[in-house]
Amino acid sequence: MMIGFGCDHAAIEMKAELMQYMSGKGYECIDYDPIKPGEKMDYPIAARAVAEAVKAGEVDKGVLLCGTGIGMCIAANKVPGIRAAHCSEPYSARLTAMHNDANIITMGARVVGIELAKMILDEFFGACFEGGRHQNRVDLITQIEEDYCRI
Ligand code: RB5
Repeated sequence: MMIGFGCDHAAIEMKAELMQYMSGKGYECIDYDPIKPGEKMDYPIAARAVAEAVKAGEVDKGVLLCGTGIGMCIAANKVPGIRAAHCSEPYSARLTAMHNDANIITMGARVVGIELAKMILDEFFGACFEGGRHQNRVDLITQIEEDYCRI
C-alpha cells in the first residue's frame, strides 16, 4: 500500500518519525510537502497536495499532520471523494476505516504523542472497510457532495 504524507510546521518531526515507522512496516511512504525545520507551511497547501494525490490514485491513503489535525481535516474534506477523519485515539481510527471508508487520517502533533500516533496508524491501516450497510451510508455522503458540486 502507498501512503501520502503531509504536514505543516507544527508536525515536521512527527511526520518524519511516522514515515520511518510505516516504511519499516512495509508501506511505501511518499512525502507531499518539502517543508524543512524552521520553515512555515500553511496547512491547506499540504492538505490539498495529499488529498489530490489520494483522489488521483497516486497513493492509496493519506496521513495529514498539523498542530491539532483539525485544519488538515477541514481542508482535505473539500476535495471531492476525500473522506478525511481526525483521530486522537485508536478506537476511532479503526472504526473510521471500517465504517466510513476514510481515505485520509489526520492527527494533531500538539495533541497526541508519537507512540499514541503510531498506535492510531496501526489501527487505521490494519482495518478494512466492512461495506454492506456502511457502503450505503458512504454512498449517501457522496450524494451530498455530488448535489453540491452541481450548484
Ligand atoms: C499552526 O499554528 C496551526 O494553526 C495548525 O498547525 C493547525 O493546528 C491548524 O488546524
